[in-house]
Amino acid sequence: MIAEINEAVDFIKKNYSHRPTVGIVLGSGMGSFTDEIKIEKEIAYGDIPHFPVSTVEGHSGKLVFGEIAGKKVVAMAGRFHYYEGYSAEQVVFPIRVLKFLGIETLLLSNAAGGVNPDFKVGDMMIITDHISQLTPNPLLGKNYKELGPRFPDMSEPYKKRLIQTATKIAAEKNIPVKQGVYVAVTGPTFETLAEYKMILAMGGDVVGMSTVQEVIAAVHMGLPVFAMSVVTDVGIREEGEPPVTHEEVLQAAKTAEPKFKALFCELIAQL
Ligand code: HPA
Repeated sequence: MIAEINEAVDFIKKNYSHRPTVGIVLGSGMGSFTDEIKIEKEIAYGDIPHFPVSTVEGHSGKLVFGEIAGKKVVAMAGRFHYYEGYSAEQVVFPIRVLKFLGIETLLLSNAAGGVNPDFKVGDMMIITDHISQLTPNPLLGKNYKELGPRFPDMSEPYKKRLIQTATKIAAEKNIPVKQGVYVAVTGPTFETLAEYKMILAMGGDVVGMSTVQEVIAAVHMGLPVFAMSVVTDVGIREEGEPPVTHEEVLQAAKTAEPKFKALFCELIAQL
């Protein structure tokens, strides 16, 4: 696996000579964040050795290299989800490649279902912690010492200093943000009403089908992480309310996009 990471890194370095310091993972409906990047190079996932290829609507599937606020960044436009049939190890492969490329901070975004009764569609939530137990851990199996320890500490998966900086930026820009716990599920089914209630009872504020495996792989490698959810639907609905659809999720993510862009760009500027 380490050889595969190195082959992917070597290929990318042959095509792009700068070292990005910030990695950004763009969630469903947030792909146009790449408009904020002064783009220097794009590399399709399909061209990178050992990279999986993204299959979901709303995910375009490329690495975008360039600058935001004078900082070299690399964005994943399109990520890999466990529900697509990739192993957890494949899902996190790109995160490992970004780390080996030299990133020092990882920012992630996602579309998520709200379960906290205070949350509305379009809300943004800074992830302060997660519950990973409903999805396979990407570190199951052989541990690679080159990546990190066998039993990684998970007491601060989302760096407090990044949460504080982002909270301050949001206040200065008058962008309302919530904070809370992200519960990871495999999908691809949205949750049953009983499942949404369970997720609330277990301490979740939102639920989604991504992010947590990537965060675990990043923390394993000692990479500081910041992550934010856009609430694209509310799970616990009244009798007779229409069900969640993927279109609704994409539309809600688009609505929140300007706020999300402003916050991420300023956070990058202040890193
Ligand atoms: N559940 C799981 N994943 C999601 C949801 C949801 O309600 N909304 C967006 N991603």
